[in-house]
Amino acid sequence: MERSQRRKRLPMILAAQLSDTHFDLSPRNTERVERVMAYLADLPRRPDVILVTGDITDSGKPEQYAEARLALRADIPIHLLPGNHDDRAAFRTELLGEPTSDAPINSVHRVGRLTVIMLDSTVPGEPGGLLAGETCDWLDETVAAAGDGPIVVALHHPPRPVASPVVDVIALAEPGRLAEVVAGDPRIIGVLTGHAHSPIATTFAGKPMITCPSTASVLGGEWEVTPPHKVMDYAPDPAVALHVIDETNTLTTHFRSVPMGGWLAEPPI
Ligand SMILES: [Fe+2]
Ligand SMILES: [Fe+2]
Repeated sequence: MERSQRRKRLPMILAAQLSDTHFDLSPRNTERVERVMAYLADLPRRPDVILVTGDITDSGKPEQYAEARLALRADIPIHLLPGNHDDRAAFRTELLGEPTSDAPINSVHRVGRLTVIMLDSTVPGEPGGLLAGETCDWLDETVAAAGDGPIVVALHHPPRPVASPVVDVIALAEPGRLAEVVAGDPRIIGVLTGHAHSPIATTFAGKPMITCPSTASVLGGEWEVTPPHKVMDYAPDPAVALHVIDETNTLTTHFRSVPMGGWLAEPPI
Protein backbone atom coordinates (compact mmCIF):
# COMPACT_ATOMS: atom_id res chain seq x y z
CA MET A 1 0.00 0.00 0.00
CA GLU A 2 1.25 3.49 -0.86
CA ARG A 3 2.22 5.60 2.09
CA SER A 4 -0.26 8.32 1.06
CA GLN A 5 -3.09 5.74 1.05
CA ARG A 6 -2.26 4.72 4.60
CA ARG A 7 -2.27 8.31 5.84
CA LYS A 8 -5.34 8.96 7.97
CA ARG A 9 -7.95 11.20 6.35
CA LEU A 10 -8.47 14.36 8.35
CA PRO A 11 -12.07 14.66 9.55
CA MET A 12 -14.30 17.39 8.17
CA ILE A 13 -14.91 20.29 10.54
CA LEU A 14 -18.30 22.03 10.29
CA ALA A 15 -18.62 25.49 11.81
CA ALA A 16 -21.98 27.27 11.76
CA GLN A 17 -21.96 31.07 11.86
CA LEU A 18 -24.83 33.32 12.89
CA SER A 19 -24.54 37.05 12.89
CA ASP A 20 -26.31 40.29 13.68
CA THR A 21 -29.06 38.72 15.73
CA HIS A 22 -30.00 42.17 17.07
CA PHE A 23 -31.97 40.95 20.09
CA ASP A 24 -34.23 43.93 20.79
CA LEU A 25 -36.91 42.56 23.17
CA SER A 26 -39.22 41.92 20.20
CA PRO A 27 -40.53 38.39 19.73
CA ARG A 28 -39.66 38.62 16.03
CA ASN A 29 -35.86 38.64 16.29
CA THR A 30 -35.89 36.02 19.05
CA GLU A 31 -38.12 33.64 17.06
CA ARG A 32 -35.87 33.97 14.04
CA VAL A 33 -32.80 32.96 16.07
CA GLU A 34 -34.72 30.13 17.71
CA ARG A 35 -35.67 28.84 14.26
CA VAL A 36 -32.06 28.90 13.09
CA MET A 37 -30.87 27.16 16.27
CA ALA A 38 -33.55 24.48 15.81
CA TYR A 39 -32.43 24.00 12.20
CA LEU A 40 -28.83 23.47 13.37
CA ALA A 41 -29.92 21.12 16.15
CA ASP A 42 -31.85 18.97 13.63
CA LEU A 43 -29.02 18.54 11.14
CA PRO A 44 -28.04 14.89 10.70
CA ARG A 45 -24.39 15.99 10.93
CA ARG A 46 -24.32 18.53 13.72
CA PRO A 47 -21.91 21.48 13.53
CA ASP A 48 -18.82 21.19 15.70
CA VAL A 49 -19.11 24.78 16.82
CA ILE A 50 -21.40 27.82 16.45
CA LEU A 51 -19.84 31.25 16.00
CA VAL A 52 -21.87 34.44 16.47
CA THR A 53 -20.16 37.47 14.96
CA GLY A 54 -21.55 40.52 16.66
CA ASP A 55 -24.49 42.85 16.95
CA ILE A 56 -25.84 40.23 19.30
CA THR A 57 -28.14 42.89 20.73
CA ASP A 58 -29.70 45.92 19.12
CA SER A 59 -28.66 48.41 21.79
CA GLY A 60 -26.52 46.63 24.41
CA LYS A 61 -29.16 46.44 27.15
CA PRO A 62 -28.79 43.75 29.86
CA GLU A 63 -32.36 42.50 29.15
CA GLN A 64 -31.42 42.01 25.49
CA TYR A 65 -28.41 39.93 26.52
CA ALA A 66 -30.71 37.88 28.74
CA GLU A 67 -32.81 37.14 25.63
CA ALA A 68 -29.68 36.18 23.73
CA ARG A 69 -28.48 33.91 26.54
CA LEU A 70 -31.74 31.99 26.42
CA ALA A 71 -32.01 31.68 22.64
CA LEU A 72 -28.35 30.93 21.88
CA ARG A 73 -28.22 27.64 23.74
CA ALA A 74 -26.95 24.36 22.32
CA ASP A 75 -25.14 21.27 23.44
CA ILE A 76 -22.21 22.20 21.23
CA PRO A 77 -19.81 25.09 21.93
CA ILE A 78 -21.01 28.60 21.04
CA HIS A 79 -18.50 31.44 20.83
CA LEU A 80 -19.48 35.07 20.46
CA LEU A 81 -17.82 38.37 19.66
CA PRO A 82 -19.29 41.88 19.92
CA GLY A 83 -20.47 44.26 17.19
CA ASN A 84 -21.05 48.00 17.12
CA HIS A 85 -24.56 47.62 18.57
CA ASP A 86 -23.19 45.75 21.59
CA ASP A 87 -21.86 47.02 24.91
CA ARG A 88 -18.65 45.44 26.15
CA ALA A 89 -19.51 45.67 29.84
CA ALA A 90 -23.01 44.15 29.49
CA PHE A 91 -21.73 41.58 26.96
CA ARG A 92 -19.18 40.41 29.53
CA THR A 93 -21.42 40.30 32.56
CA GLU A 94 -24.68 39.10 30.97
CA LEU A 95 -23.43 36.83 28.22
CA LEU A 96 -20.01 35.58 29.26
CA GLY A 97 -20.53 35.65 33.04
CA GLU A 98 -17.27 37.54 33.45
CA PRO A 99 -16.46 40.61 35.58
CA THR A 100 -17.33 43.94 33.97
CA SER A 101 -14.61 45.58 31.87
CA ASP A 102 -14.40 47.84 28.85
CA ALA A 103 -11.35 46.05 27.44
CA PRO A 104 -11.67 44.43 23.98
CA ILE A 105 -13.36 41.01 24.02
CA ASN A 106 -10.87 38.84 22.13
CA SER A 107 -10.90 35.06 22.40
CA VAL A 108 -9.33 31.96 20.89
CA HIS A 109 -10.89 28.51 20.62
CA ARG A 110 -9.83 25.08 19.43
CA VAL A 111 -12.25 23.05 17.34
CA GLY A 112 -10.45 19.80 16.59
CA ARG A 113 -7.37 20.85 14.60
CA LEU A 114 -8.94 24.25 13.77
CA THR A 115 -8.03 27.39 15.70
CA VAL A 116 -10.72 30.08 15.75
CA ILE A 117 -9.47 33.55 16.64
CA MET A 118 -12.25 36.01 17.48
CA LEU A 119 -11.32 39.69 17.47
CA ASP A 120 -13.20 42.61 18.96
CA SER A 121 -13.29 45.23 16.18
CA THR A 122 -15.65 47.60 17.97
CA VAL A 123 -14.94 51.17 19.04
CA PRO A 124 -17.26 51.98 21.97
CA GLY A 125 -19.89 54.49 20.87
CA GLU A 126 -18.90 54.34 17.19
CA PRO A 127 -20.56 52.43 14.33
CA GLY A 128 -17.28 51.89 12.47
CA GLY A 129 -14.59 49.40 13.45
CA LEU A 130 -10.92 49.52 14.37
CA LEU A 131 -8.60 46.93 15.89
CA ALA A 132 -7.07 48.41 19.04
CA GLY A 133 -3.30 48.20 19.41
CA GLU A 134 -3.69 45.68 22.23
CA THR A 135 -5.93 43.53 19.98
CA CYS A 136 -3.33 43.56 17.19
CA ASP A 137 -0.60 42.59 19.69
CA TRP A 138 -2.82 39.81 21.05
CA LEU A 139 -3.47 38.58 17.50
CA ASP A 140 0.27 38.38 16.80
CA GLU A 141 0.87 36.40 20.02
CA THR A 142 -2.12 34.13 19.47
CA VAL A 143 -1.21 33.27 15.88
CA ALA A 144 2.37 32.61 16.97
CA ALA A 145 1.14 30.25 19.71
CA ALA A 146 -1.38 28.36 17.51
CA GLY A 147 -0.61 24.81 16.47
CA ASP A 148 0.02 23.42 13.00
CA GLY A 149 -3.66 23.22 12.03
CA PRO A 150 -5.71 25.72 10.04
CA ILE A 151 -6.77 29.08 11.53
CA VAL A 152 -9.82 31.24 10.84
CA VAL A 153 -10.01 34.83 12.05
CA ALA A 154 -13.47 36.22 12.89
CA LEU A 155 -14.41 39.85 13.52
CA HIS A 156 -17.56 41.93 13.19
CA HIS A 157 -16.49 44.64 10.75
CA PRO A 158 -15.46 43.63 7.20
CA PRO A 159 -11.84 44.74 6.71
CA ARG A 160 -12.48 45.65 3.06
CA PRO A 161 -15.34 47.24 1.08
CA VAL A 162 -18.21 44.92 0.16
CA ALA A 163 -20.21 47.09 -2.31
CA SER A 164 -22.58 48.08 0.47
CA PRO A 165 -23.27 51.82 0.59
CA VAL A 166 -24.38 51.59 4.22
CA VAL A 167 -21.63 49.34 5.57
CA ASP A 168 -18.60 50.44 3.56
CA VAL A 169 -18.54 53.80 5.33
CA ILE A 170 -18.54 52.06 8.72
CA ALA A 171 -16.27 49.10 7.88
CA LEU A 172 -12.93 48.33 9.58
CA ALA A 173 -10.57 51.31 9.47
CA GLU A 174 -6.84 50.79 9.16
CA PRO A 175 -6.90 47.09 8.22
CA GLY A 176 -3.16 47.03 7.38
CA ARG A 177 -1.89 45.14 10.42
CA LEU A 178 -4.61 42.51 10.08
CA ALA A 179 -3.83 42.17 6.36
CA GLU A 180 -0.15 41.58 7.14
CA VAL A 181 -0.98 38.77 9.55
CA VAL A 182 -3.57 37.16 7.26
CA ALA A 183 -1.37 37.33 4.16
CA GLY A 184 1.76 36.28 6.03
CA ASP A 185 0.64 33.05 7.65
CA PRO A 186 -0.25 30.05 5.47
CA ARG A 187 -2.22 28.48 8.33
CA ILE A 188 -4.85 31.26 8.08
CA ILE A 189 -7.43 29.91 5.64
CA GLY A 190 -10.06 32.63 5.85
CA VAL A 191 -11.60 35.65 7.53
CA LEU A 192 -15.21 35.58 8.77
CA THR A 193 -17.21 38.75 9.40
CA GLY A 194 -20.68 40.05 10.13
CA HIS A 195 -22.02 43.64 10.09
CA ALA A 196 -23.11 43.73 6.43
CA HIS A 197 -26.40 41.80 6.88
CA SER A 198 -25.80 40.00 3.60
CA PRO A 199 -24.14 36.75 2.52
CA ILE A 200 -20.92 37.87 0.82
CA ALA A 201 -17.88 36.06 -0.55
CA THR A 202 -14.76 38.02 -1.48
CA THR A 203 -11.06 38.05 -0.65
CA PHE A 204 -8.96 39.92 1.89
CA ALA A 205 -5.16 39.85 1.92
CA GLY A 206 -5.29 37.05 -0.62
CA LYS A 207 -7.50 34.77 1.50
CA PRO A 208 -11.25 34.08 1.36
CA MET A 209 -13.34 36.60 3.27
CA ILE A 210 -16.86 35.44 4.05
CA THR A 211 -19.54 37.69 5.48
CA CYS A 212 -22.37 35.95 7.28
CA PRO A 213 -25.95 37.08 6.68
CA SER A 214 -27.96 38.49 9.58
CA THR A 215 -30.75 36.52 11.19
CA ALA A 216 -32.70 39.78 11.53
CA SER A 217 -32.65 41.59 8.16
CA VAL A 218 -30.91 42.12 4.82
CA LEU A 219 -28.97 45.26 3.87
CA GLY A 220 -28.97 45.92 0.15
CA GLY A 221 -25.97 46.27 -2.12
CA GLU A 222 -25.09 49.31 -4.22
CA TRP A 223 -27.46 48.20 -6.96
CA GLU A 224 -30.43 47.94 -4.59
CA VAL A 225 -30.47 50.72 -2.06
CA THR A 226 -31.32 54.37 -2.37
CA PRO A 227 -30.27 55.76 1.04
CA PRO A 228 -31.88 56.88 3.23
CA HIS A 229 -34.82 54.90 1.83
CA LYS A 230 -35.08 51.19 1.07
CA VAL A 231 -31.91 50.36 2.97
CA MET A 232 -32.97 47.41 5.12
CA ASP A 233 -35.24 44.56 4.03
CA TYR A 234 -37.08 42.73 6.81
CA ALA A 235 -38.97 40.35 4.50
CA PRO A 236 -36.34 37.65 3.86
CA ASP A 237 -36.08 34.61 6.10
CA PRO A 238 -33.21 34.41 8.60
CA ALA A 239 -30.02 32.85 7.25
CA VAL A 240 -26.90 31.11 8.50
CA ALA A 241 -23.46 30.31 7.10
CA LEU A 242 -22.08 26.76 7.24
CA HIS A 243 -18.32 26.61 6.91
CA VAL A 244 -16.73 23.32 5.96
CA ILE A 245 -13.02 22.79 6.58
CA ASP A 246 -12.21 19.68 4.57
CA GLU A 247 -9.36 17.21 4.72
CA THR A 248 -7.21 19.59 2.65
CA ASN A 249 -7.93 22.37 5.18
CA THR A 250 -9.76 24.36 2.50
CA LEU A 251 -12.64 26.57 3.59
CA THR A 252 -15.92 26.04 1.71
CA THR A 253 -19.03 27.93 2.78
CA HIS A 254 -22.71 27.22 2.18
CA PHE A 255 -25.35 29.76 3.04
CA ARG A 256 -28.77 28.55 4.09
CA SER A 257 -31.93 30.52 4.75
CA VAL A 258 -34.16 28.98 7.36
CA PRO A 259 -37.80 29.38 6.37
CA MET A 260 -40.01 30.93 9.03
CA GLY A 261 -42.99 29.34 7.24
CA GLY A 262 -41.60 25.81 7.60
CA TRP A 263 -40.25 23.34 5.04
CA LEU A 264 -41.96 22.21 1.83
CA ALA A 265 -41.08 18.60 1.09
CA GLU A 266 -42.70 18.81 -2.40
CA PRO A 267 -42.51 21.60 -5.00
CA PRO A 268 -45.55 23.88 -4.74
CA ILE A 269 -48.13 23.40 -7.55
FE1 LIG B 1 -25.96 44.49 12.49
FE1 LIG C 1 -22.79 46.02 12.90
